[in-house]
Amino acid sequence: MIVTNKIQELKCLRKKLNGPVGFVPTMGFLHEGHLSLIRAARKQNRSVIVSIFVNPAQFGPSEDFDTYPKDTKHDLEILQEEEVDIVFTPVPEEMYPEGYGTWVEVNGLTEKLEGFSRPGHFRGVTTVVLKLLNNTQPDIVYFGQKDAQQAIVLKKMVQDLGFPVDVAVMPTIRQIDGLALSSRNHYLTQEQKKAATIIYKALNLAVKMYDTGKTDAMEIKHALVELIRSEPLAAIDYVSIVSSDNLEELGTISSPALVLIAVKIGKARLIDNILL
Ligand code: PAJ
Repeated sequence: MIVTNKIQELKCLRKKLNGPVGFVPTMGFLHEGHLSLIRAARKQNRSVIVSIFVNPAQFGPSEDFDTYPKDTKHDLEILQEEEVDIVFTPVPEEMYPEGYGTWVEVNGLTEKLEGFSRPGHFRGVTTVVLKLLNNTQPDIVYFGQKDAQQAIVLKKMVQDLGFPVDVAVMPTIRQIDGLALSSRNHYLTQEQKKAATIIYKALNLAVKMYDTGKTDAMEIKHALVELIRSEPLAAIDYVSIVSSDNLEELGTISSPALVLIAVKIGKARLIDNILL
């Protein structure tokens, strides 16, 4: 495994890799969710590249960029075990040098939900991912369904720009109690972690209501909101039921629909979703 923090070196190393190449972009503090993407990449490609970069451009001024959990030494040990070929670990100045001025924006999908709550977030995500794709030139790039809107936005970017890469979206990995794995779970106390299981309970309630014939999105949303409110440590940001094609809010549910939840618990803002 070769670790580099320089774009030029990454490009040289990439040229020497045997194809096909799988690429997994991450912000580090790796968990089983990340590993599921890396293992899929390992299985489906001759070579695997992983990036670890806490991307300042996708954090708002009052968000957790400064406190985002980090353990690069441990991450590298894990990646070595997973037989990753190249790990790219740039510092912000490498990705955004003095005078950097080019930004990628995907309009239409990025103004709502996460984009509404976190203005500028997706502009940071699309810009960094396009720059990483340019420098790694993978055959397949892997994202998690856990960040459903991010995966939809990035697929659209790749399609709109005609970037020559296949996008794979892998299922959400959860704890046994249903809590979706996330680096931000690190901010939670034991009590808050227990409280956070309300999110998956609410998603399951949506599935149950839909499976028993309920298709009124408002009725389902109300039931979910009521359930989440029963957990005093959880503060709802949004509960939304949208078309998984264009993220438009649905009145009557016809599949494929996506139930999306964002909740603040303690210092952590947690998101999760389920497909109906
Ligand atoms: P990060 O939060 O580190 O996540 C990296 C990748 O792992 C994303 O595609 C995310 O959806 C996926 N992932 C996270 N938790 C998961 C889980 N529980 N199950 C399955 N997949 C999971 O998402 C980002 O970083 C950044 O926005 C990035 C795309 C790297 C751009 O900076």
